[in-house]
Amino acid sequence: MSDALAAVRAALDEGRAAFAAAADPAGLAAVEAAFLGKKGRVPAFMEALKTAPPSEKAVFGKEVNLLKQALTALYEERKAALGATIVATGPRVDLTLPGRRPARGAYHPLSQVARDIVRTMATLGFEETDGPEIEDEWHNFVALNIPENHPARDEGDNFYLDDKRLLRSQTSTVQIRTLKTRKPPLRVTAVGRVYRPDTVDATHHYMFHQVEGLAVDEGLTMADMKSTLLSFVQALYQEDVEIRLRPSFFPFPEPSAEIDVKFPGRGWVEIGGCGMVDPAVFAACGIDPEKWTGFAFGCGVERLAMRRFAVPDIRRFTENDARFLRRLG
Ligand code: DAH
Repeated sequence: MSDALAAVRAALDEGRAAFAAAADPAGLAAVEAAFLGKKGRVPAFMEALKTAPPSEKAVFGKEVNLLKQALTALYEERKAALGATIVATGPRVDLTLPGRRPARGAYHPLSQVARDIVRTMATLGFEETDGPEIEDEWHNFVALNIPENHPARDEGDNFYLDDKRLLRSQTSTVQIRTLKTRKPPLRVTAVGRVYRPDTVDATHHYMFHQVEGLAVDEGLTMADMKSTLLSFVQALYQEDVEIRLRPSFFPFPEPSAEIDVKFPGRGWVEIGGCGMVDPAVFAACGIDPEKWTGFAFGCGVERLAMRRFAVPDIRRFTENDARFLRRLG
């Protein structure tokens, strides 16, 4: 056997081993280039064939062709095998499966009620505002006409942080903040947390939310207040609710009243307090009580939400039970 033929056979053995050893597509491409590529072993044999002695040409040519066919087959085979491994070990995708729904968040029921209140009040010209939860005695009591020895200021009824500061016990503090920083006429709503030491049960909590409304203008009356409250409550429940103002006493509005709501076929439920802003409050904030009149109200948001969603226990709102939140979300 001539040297040329031996070289062709050797190339076949080496090619077989090299293709078998190719472990990934890049390795396989390199082997393919080394044997079948333009500068590979097979074209080199083709080149050599041109100058081979005539007596050997036929046999040599046939061998080179067989080599080329064999290597091409080895290459295709290896390529298919590597491809199959990639599919088998890569991520499997079953396009016939139904898609996975992304877990969507929802508004907390209290946030829903707060949002509806703020929106409704906005249609009546009330801007949303807020105030700090850590307050001083002046905003929480003094400016609201609650005197030094008043029981509402009791240490046992408030979360005092030190001599002068406390967690606000009512959102009426925002009335003072607003009157001190804005000029009338004005209309604002504020929703926020309030804190009072209270034994927690189905209807009481030491932290709850209030919505405060304040309107200051010339010539406002109780009738303006009542119509505002009625629109607010009707928008919230979207059914035929009635409201009733029951004479009561709060230090900062005069006259003051308690707001009761009646749902069709049910009894009256108290939802908050209201009244005409006391001239003493205007005076404390530097607003002329001779010129300006105002009305204000404050309602418990949990109360409103418990009615709206038929939640029997106030504690449900802070338990973070996902099933509860999902149901009302
Ligand atoms: N802040 C009072 C409370 O927490 C509720 C209230 C009563 C608010 C009368 C008012 C008001 O704005 O005028 O019980």
